[in-house]
Amino acid sequence: MSDTIRWGVIGTGGIAAAFVRDLALLGDAEVVAVGSRSQESADRFGDEHGVAHRHPSYAALAADPDVDAVYVATPHPGHHDAALLAIEAGKAVLVEKPFTMNAAEARSLVEAARARGTFLMEAMWTRHLPRTLAIREIVESGRIGDIVLVTAEHGQWFADDPEFRLFAPELGGGALLDLGIYPVSYAHMLLGTPRAITAASDAAFTGVDGQTSMILQFDGGAHAVLTTTLRGQSECHAVIVGREGRIEIDGVFYRPGSFRVIPRVGREDGEPEVHSFDEPGHGLRYQAAEVGRCLRAGLTESPRLPLDETVSIMETLDEVRRQIGLTYPGLD
Ligand SMILES: NC(=O)c1ccc[n+]([C@@H]2O[C@H](COP(=O)([O-])OP(=O)(O)OC[C@H]3O[C@@H](n4cnc5c(N)ncnc54)[C@H](OP(=O)(O)O)[C@@H]3O)[C@@H](O)[C@H]2O)c1
Repeated sequence: MSDTIRWGVIGTGGIAAAFVRDLALLGDAEVVAVGSRSQESADRFGDEHGVAHRHPSYAALAADPDVDAVYVATPHPGHHDAALLAIEAGKAVLVEKPFTMNAAEARSLVEAARARGTFLMEAMWTRHLPRTLAIREIVESGRIGDIVLVTAEHGQWFADDPEFRLFAPELGGGALLDLGIYPVSYAHMLLGTPRAITAASDAAFTGVDGQTSMILQFDGGAHAVLTTTLRGQSECHAVIVGREGRIEIDGVFYRPGSFRVIPRVGREDGEPEVHSFDEPGHGLRYQAAEVGRCLRAGLTESPRLPLDETVSIMETLDEVRRQIGLTYPGLD
């Protein structure tokens, strides 16, 4: 593996551009190639972001010998096939969230990567933020005791536009897969696989889910109470409550920022403690840094987000979709 990880990007939309900008803040990675459904888009993206190789297909990007790692940034229904192209070409692959449309597609990618011996990871960037790593360390130290409750929500407002990706069924639209994945993934990170799931939802005007709430129950009695909506901009707040104290995550829980550790009433081990992480940029680069770390260490998956956990997260989303009757064209 070269000192600098050479990235190729599949798709030329909003998050692809944000990823390339944030990657520029890493010293040991660079974007060398972009692949698009059209030469024109690849050239436009290449000009805007200074990317040298511009490919008119995803297959050509996957075959580029100068690319070490591929970042898949198409709408969700395209993730599986684009990632498979890159896996089959022997590249390391980072796939945007949600990893795939369902657990069956996720298992197919995991099997392909394991058979080929290539690195594969879901691009749940929140996992790799310094704030998230610090929270995990405190939880694992036992400082707040056993977790009894996680509350997390993710709401954004979007104008009613049937062609917009988040409303379009054929582009995998809906709150759950795009926004709800954040609280669901956070609950899995802290509590593992749920033993029971209860979900309720109301549809948006195109039939995808507009607002979905979930209660996840875990062995040991912990609950995660999670909500997502694309009808209004919420605080995007999360709290982790343990037997001995709680962690309040300040601001938007899935981005960089601070958090507070608050001992429960009656404990004499100190005042609430603030942990702050001031950092430049968006925060997308930390997942790319983790890919680089794993490749240099010879790992084919990240211990921070193992592939079996990604599959388990997709199984949770499948079960929520089953309960709320959320189906997608060509899938169910
Ligand atoms: N991590 C995050 O914070 C974050 C934020 C936003 C989105 N995302 C994820 O990233 C993925 C892409 O989201 P985005 O907001 O970047 O989407 P977007 O702006 O609509 O861009 C998607 C890109 O995918 C390609 N594409 C392939 N098939 C397409 C199709 N049928 N319709 C439209 N575009 C198609 C297009 O590039 P070409 O035409 O050049 O091939 C397009 O530019 C989604 O899975 C989403 O969940 C993650």
